[in-house]
Amino acid sequence: GKQGYPYFMAKEIDEQPTCIRRILSNYLVNNDIEFGFGGTLDDALKNFNRICIVACGTALHAGIMGAQLFKKWTGINVDTEMASEFIYSDTTVGPDTLFIAVSQSGETIDTLEALRKAKEAGALCLAILNVRGSSISRVADYTLYTDAGPEIAVASTKAYTTQMLMFYMLALKSGLVRGTITEEYFEEATSNLRKIPDAMAEVIGQKDAIHKLAKEVITASDLFMIGRGLDYTVLMEGALKLKEISYIHSEAYAAGELKHGPIALISEGTPVIAAVTQTHLISKALSNVKEIRARGANVVLIAKNELKADFSDEYHVIGLPDLDDEYMSFPEIVALQIYSYYVSADKGLDVDKPRNLAKVVTVE
Ligand code: M6R
Repeated sequence: GKQGYPYFMAKEIDEQPTCIRRILSNYLVNNDIEFGFGGTLDDALKNFNRICIVACGTALHAGIMGAQLFKKWTGINVDTEMASEFIYSDTTVGPDTLFIAVSQSGETIDTLEALRKAKEAGALCLAILNVRGSSISRVADYTLYTDAGPEIAVASTKAYTTQMLMFYMLALKSGLVRGTITEEYFEEATSNLRKIPDAMAEVIGQKDAIHKLAKEVITASDLFMIGRGLDYTVLMEGALKLKEISYIHSEAYAAGELKHGPIALISEGTPVIAAVTQTHLISKALSNVKEIRARGANVVLIAKNELKADFSDEYHVIGLPDLDDEYMSFPEIVALQIYSYYVSADKGLDVDKPRNLAKVVTVE
């Protein structure tokens, strides 16, 4: 049941620190990351020079994060594709490819068909799933389970963060076995992973402040989310959350792309969420924020706590715990989940069962 929560989504948001802790305690063994399978998956991670990641919706967003991490820590070539497009497109996937399908339910028909196609083409197939014994697990060569427990709300929350964590671990382990990151770097990384649950819990503790900001957009028809680098990747998921449960049209834009078109949509009062958690990109991201503010946008900044004071005079700020930049995606998405949740609930919508959507999509 909902255990006293008004909606499953609220409960599932709050469960995330526990879900992340569970995965860490299962996979982080003596400062190493162990996937089991007698080390055969590690060999695959070491030997493949091509990865293709395919999924739908939120799971695709986790995959896009995964692709960035593989590139960052291993330099491997990674393609990500929407399952619905992958099925009918020309593909170069073959025996040289590690193919990764991501799915909460393990039953999404497009993702299942994509996996079958990759398998037929001779790729080694890894699945990241939540539901044990699902159809996709029966086709995959290897399955990693996120074990987040049943996700009832149509809007995915704990499935996303646990899928992302799987990708962090896969990419880090790949970097270690391939020698593209040092042991010291790996240790530093695992100590960051261990900090994620508390960081997420800290954001959950700021619910009320986030709720206050959410109240300001309940009558909005459009909302834009802008950021660079990993922020942009997280915002794609944030924008999906908001649109599917609040029915506000929301889009994520890479901040650097604004000038190439989307800035035409900004006018007096347009709500914009700008994420600026990536230190090396911050001055560029802020200059984009200034441009849209000059055009009248109402900006909420998402920034590390250490910078909050610098911005609070000029902007509404959601402050996040100070992890190393690469790990900010976890507290950041929790803030966006909570924000979307309150917009939907305050509009009096059925948060758990948004119109036109099903939890599992079994038709192409
Ligand atoms: O079960 P799956 O992870 O394969 O589902 C994929 C998408 O249908 C799913 O993530 C969908 O986008 C959610 N409604 C997002 O909140």
